[in-house]
Amino acid sequence: MENGAAGNGARTERPVVLITGASAGIGEATARRFAHAGWYIVAVARGPEKLDRLVAELAPLTQIVSLAGDVASPGIPGEAVALAMQKFGRLDCLVNNAGAGRWAPVHETDDAMLDEVVDISLKAPFRFCRTALGVMRPGASIITVGSTFGIVGGLNGGVYCAVKAGLIGLTQTLAAQYGAKGIRSNLVAPGVIKTAMTRDYWDEKFFNRINQEMTPFDREGTPEDVANAIFFLASPEGSYINGQTIALDGGWATTKYLTPEAMFADRMPAAEAS
Ligand SMILES: NC(=O)c1ccc[n+]([C@@H]2O[C@H](COP(=O)([O-])OP(=O)(O)OC[C@H]3O[C@@H](n4cnc5c(N)ncnc54)[C@H](OP(=O)(O)O)[C@@H]3O)[C@@H](O)[C@H]2O)c1
Repeated sequence: MENGAAGNGARTERPVVLITGASAGIGEATARRFAHAGWYIVAVARGPEKLDRLVAELAPLTQIVSLAGDVASPGIPGEAVALAMQKFGRLDCLVNNAGAGRWAPVHETDDAMLDEVVDISLKAPFRFCRTALGVMRPGASIITVGSTFGIVGGLNGGVYCAVKAGLIGLTQTLAAQYGAKGIRSNLVAPGVIKTAMTRDYWDEKFFNRINQEMTPFDREGTPEDVANAIFFLASPEGSYINGQTIALDGGWATTKYLTPEAMFADRMPAAEAS
């Protein structure tokens, strides 16, 4: 599986992680988690300013390089993996985190939204996996950030739910095909986490009712909760976990929890619930 392409740098002693969407939210927390454990990092996102801030913050802790680009651009996975190989000579973990936070019911999803979400959140992770597999050695792993909405679906989920469910399929086929070669693949499925993607909706009644009020564990999930699980899956402690979807949601996806207030509320007319 090793890529003997010219231009690869010397193989470093430290393991290397490539994180997409590394400059904010869950990806940023993940970069911090790996940096504190001494991993070297390749950080990918579109905006160079936020990436520069991340590099400045983490450079005292570890070696980190960044690539500014849109994951939906077909050349970016190759550029990112080549950067890892040139700088560090190895790639031990790919974290497919960048995703498009766009929601609408299916009947309100136009082709522009359909294409955008599929390009960023399904085709891009697929291409990153395909490219990373070309250089990964046994012991490496791929961790993809899906969503609880890819496990159980969700109101107004539309194409977001469809691609997040598709990522579970991708994770499972990778686990079967490349597990035999010592490369694992797993998916973390966050419930709602307060980041730039959700901040505008966080206190809305409808959002609260279908998310926070249906979560039995009584605190907000954080980007660090997700980052810790990603790191665990990449680490030797997670080395027999392959093909799994792990929800980080305080119990949202696996229970039918309702707060007492929601339990005794009148059923909302369908017209108001959409
Ligand atoms: N927050 C939640 O409640 C939640 C729940 C379930 C699942 N998730 C999933 O978790 C992942 C991260 O979400 P988040 O909440 O951490 O989002 P966020 O805070 O908005 O951060 C998104 C990160 O991805 C980058 N990014 C976005 N689009 C990109 C693109 N096309 N190409 C390259 N980089 C891109 C952003 O930087 P630039 O804008 O500069 O590119 C930023 O670094 C997503 O896959 C999301 O679907 C989130």
